[in-house]
Amino acid sequence: MNAQPVTVTVTGAAGQIGYGILFRIASGQMLGHDTQIRLRLLEIPQAVRAAEGTAMELDDCAFDRLESIEIFDDPVKAFDGVNVALLVGARPRGAGMERADLLAANGGIFGPQGEAINAGAASDVRVLVVGNPANTNALIAAQHAPDVPVERFNAMTRLDHNRALSQLARRGGVPVRDVRNVTIWGNHSASQYPDVFHARVGSRSGAELAEDRTWLTEDFIPTVAKRGAAIIEARGASSAASAANAAIEHVRDWVRGTPEGEWTSAGVPSNGAYGVPEGVISSFPVVSRDGEWQIVDGLEINDFSRERIDASVAELFEERAAVEKLGLV
Ligand code: NAD
Ligand code: LMR
Repeated sequence: MNAQPVTVTVTGAAGQIGYGILFRIASGQMLGHDTQIRLRLLEIPQAVRAAEGTAMELDDCAFDRLESIEIFDDPVKAFDGVNVALLVGARPRGAGMERADLLAANGGIFGPQGEAINAGAASDVRVLVVGNPANTNALIAAQHAPDVPVERFNAMTRLDHNRALSQLARRGGVPVRDVRNVTIWGNHSASQYPDVFHARVGSRSGAELAEDRTWLTEDFIPTVAKRGAAIIEARGASSAASAANAAIEHVRDWVRGTPEGEWTSAGVPSNGAYGVPEGVISSFPVVSRDGEWQIVDGLEINDFSRERIDASVAELFEERAAVEKLGLV
């Protein structure tokens, strides 16, 4: 058993993803069964009552690793001493909306939350932004937390990564566990680039599968990049259980490390790697060692990939310019 309990704050705790994620955190699936959890739920005042209902259900699970549950409508209190912050609370898009439509609506949430994290978080705080547009919201939060190392702010592209794994497994006729080293580059939006060129799909290489350019450009890439919209269209609500699952896996790997010989994808601050200029939070191939992400280096980027990575990164800079204009960064 780890001596120190870990304080985990989840924003938007009364929402769909909140309902999917809290029970998994409390049961030990995110930080391991050897870790005691202190859960903090942050909501807007109108949703505090619903969060109380979720907290009652958490109580009723009698999780032996759940030390406490507290509910807040004040980010300063909710993030005081936090070790892991999951910034989920934001408005989801509806049918026909692009994530960019959410920039103004949601951007305003993440500045004050960044300030609250800056003011009170534990020195080892890790922040995962799930609320959309996730990459730019993460940038806003990071910019409002100058005392927290910028690499502690991530945006979630693990759901896109998992979507790509599943689509490749189906294409290759192999179980998902036999697919590895796919990469999501760029923004968590329709411009993202799911890159198969370095992947393994059973005994085949992703590059071999990619020789079928019609499948790649007309099936695989749009299926992964537009999956969020397809789910909204089918379900009448944006993805929730799969998003919660992805957030659990992101934090688990960040804290506990990625398996040897495999990488995953995460939105991390660009450091100039692969020609992505500094100043945005972009998805890269990453491994986690000793609790820190490292961008996988040395991958060859062909012209097909280059063009698509550049397009998604350009969108990130456009989002950055848009929120600068709104005074959010
Ligand atoms: P939801 O509407 O069900 O829940 C959102 C919750 O956030 C609500 O309970 C709301 O009261 C709360 N909230 C709003 N403003 C808040 C604030 N300032 N502080 C705390 N809580 C606040 O939405 P959802 O389906 O749970 O989705 C949440 C977000 O996650 C959306 O922006 C959605 O687009 C995004 N999302 C991202 C990914 C990803 O892969 N990155 C995947 C799925 C959904
Ligand atoms: C998703 O990818 O499912 C989420 O980001 C929701 C959305 O708006 O697409």
